[in-house]
Amino acid sequence: RIHPVILCGGSGTRLWPKSRKARPKPFIPLIGDKTLFQAALSRVKGDEFAPATIVAGPQHVDLIEAQARGHDLQIVVEPCARNTAPAIALAAARLDPGDVMLVCPSDHFIADEDAFRDAARAAFQLAREDKLVAFGITADRPETGYGYIRRGKPLSGGYSVAEFVEKPDAGRAMQFLASGEYAWNGGIFVFRACAVLSELRRQRPDMAELVAAAVANGSESGTLFHPDAESFAGIAGESIDYAVMEGAKDAAVVPVSMGWSDIGSWAALHDALETDEDGNSVEGPAQLLDCENVLSISDGPRISAVGVKDLCIVVDGDEVLVTSRDGAQLVGKLDGAANQ
Ligand code: GDD
Ligand code: MG
Repeated sequence: RIHPVILCGGSGTRLWPKSRKARPKPFIPLIGDKTLFQAALSRVKGDEFAPATIVAGPQHVDLIEAQARGHDLQIVVEPCARNTAPAIALAAARLDPGDVMLVCPSDHFIADEDAFRDAARAAFQLAREDKLVAFGITADRPETGYGYIRRGKPLSGGYSVAEFVEKPDAGRAMQFLASGEYAWNGGIFVFRACAVLSELRRQRPDMAELVAAAVANGSESGTLFHPDAESFAGIAGESIDYAVMEGAKDAAVVPVSMGWSDIGSWAALHDALETDEDGNSVEGPAQLLDCENVLSISDGPRISAVGVKDLCIVVDGDEVLVTSRDGAQLVGKLDGAANQ
């Protein structure tokens, strides 16, 4: 069986004012009535999956338990945030060495769940041959906020990885898109626990040692596991992309088109939602007159807009956000979002 590991770590400041410190992006219903975290959990439910491991900070344990009612899971409580490599290594160290883990972010949207599961199955087979597998999302624009993966030689169900390039500048992103040889790194990985840990030992021995100590000296209470805080705090934070995947000896990529979005901004959410014939998407009370490409979300007051286009309007409690679609990337810099 595949062992799902779900990472809950991001703060989602660009989705302010809905995403706030006490209730960040994975835990708010943004598409449909499930939260992104609940959708991530239910995607990995079924006979082919073992119970999930959630890796999250102590401030989110209550939200996770409340939103995961009815799911069988383990929570690894990170004493502090050290980015994805240590978070994934903690989960790996808690599994049996031969277990194949499927690492998923908790805050992404996937429209086509069958395509997701097909890719997970293909990746599972490659991981059983000790490959470190990344999901390669079909790229359709020169996005600079993602990592890119260049395909190498064909393997059964995927390709070897010729190169990982994390967050290229706009010029390189354009070249990558034009070449047709690159996919986006979706941040979804499949590998045996022992394979990722041995690559970590080879490439980042200090981190591997501190993670091992944090697990060896950790404590268990019910479904919670608390790694030793002192060992874990000594780790220099780094993402799995840099610490493991870029330099891995045996990396593979499984191509997948599954209507994926990391919902990195209000504009990205708008793109993932259904729209009317004018491109508008409305949740909550609103009247839009002669508007085009407007996202309107309110949890209370009615939004009225006339003759505007390419806007996102979000009302949440006592906060009102108005941003152009182009400006949506900057929302995290607003007072309130950054210091929420
Ligand atoms: N538990 C835990 N602890 N989770 C974390 C931590 C942490 O310290 N840091 C990040 N995460 C989770 C986030 O919640 C997010 O879902 C995921 O790991 C990826 O982290 P981001 O910080 O959002 O990374 P990114 O967007 O800059 O880049 C990564 O994701 C892109 C796709 O969305 C890279 O993998 C890119 O290559 C990739 O294209
Ligand atoms: Mg991200």
